Amino acid sequence: MGYDDFSNIKEKDFLASGKSDIDRGAVRNYIVDKTNEIRYAVGEGYAINALSGGVDSSVVTMLGHRALGDRLRTYFIDDGLMRENEANYVSSLFYQIGVPIEVVDSKERFFSALRGIEDPEDKRNAFTDCFYKTFGDIVRNNAGPERKLFLLQGTNYTDVEETLAKVKRQHNVLAQLGIDPLKTYGYDVIEPIIDLRKPAVRAVAREIGLPKEVSERIPFPGPGLAARIIGEVTPGRVETVRKATKVVEQELYDLGAFQYLAILHKDNVTGMRDGKRDFGQQIEVRCWDSKDAVTGAPTKVPFEKLTTIADRITREVPGVVSVTYNITKKPPSTIEAV
Ligand code: XMP
Repeated sequence: MGYDDFSNIKEKDFLASGKSDIDRGAVRNYIVDKTNEIRYAVGEGYAINALSGGVDSSVVTMLGHRALGDRLRTYFIDDGLMRENEANYVSSLFYQIGVPIEVVDSKERFFSALRGIEDPEDKRNAFTDCFYKTFGDIVRNNAGPERKLFLLQGTNYTDVEETLAKVKRQHNVLAQLGIDPLKTYGYDVIEPIIDLRKPAVRAVAREIGLPKEVSERIPFPGPGLAARIIGEVTPGRVETVRKATKVVEQELYDLGAFQYLAILHKDNVTGMRDGKRDFGQQIEVRCWDSKDAVTGAPTKVPFEKLTTIADRITREVPGVVSVTYNITKKPPSTIEAV
């Protein structure tokens, strides 16, 4: 089947029909075709990919692993901006599936790239640049004189759309912005899921044998917790938003919302603790109903749940004296704050 015919199947069965009635046969065909496509593109060469533990990069890891076996090397770049204990969680999960992961500790590199930056787009650009340079080093470590190397990347349709619409520079969009990855960073990029939206990616994840905790995992932005910090990204501020994220994810898991997160604000506000003034930090909680992140509405979270979250965050996250809930739709809001 040619690629064009295959695109038609995707359009019809994945994108248009929505989440519930995606045809499993079409998903299976898609997996076979994409696996062949990767095998053909890479030829005798090698590929590497970065796995974040989200559904997009997990699907790409599985497709690449099926296509190339041990000619694919998968790296978890620990940028210091992930959820708590994420490196351990992701590498042991994939170890169980039979896919080895190498963890690259790049925390200091990312923190120094982000130091002093407050502007949201500057922050995204600094993250992106650091990400691809870190990857460039991994490529150089893998490259031999006769080896052709490819990068498999989990860019999806929404990433491209939002970047081209100039809503946000998604960290993984290159070619569509006129950036030639071969010239700029030294490797070719293959993007197997570039024309799928989230529900379709999840359908592929289920069919390709990923556990539910991955296939149904809520989205997490490429720039990680840096996308949830207003103002400068420092290790201390990341720790604050990471702790708040943990509380929010634990408390809102059962609601089945599309995505839920915590944001750290830049300005402090006057609070009180132990009868004394405490000029402390503010956390904003967001919980989204959405199909594909293109538009969204705030989930009607029960008020008792919100007060539990506020109590826990002000108790468990040092320095936080105020917790708010965002009640704005997307648009004009966006899902993340940066
Ligand atoms: P926004 O904030 O633009 O987010 O409404 C839409 C969806 O995309 C996720 N997101 C990203 N994903 N790289 C990604 O891979 C990024 O740079 C990025 N920024 C936002 C966000 O979590 C939401 O699901």
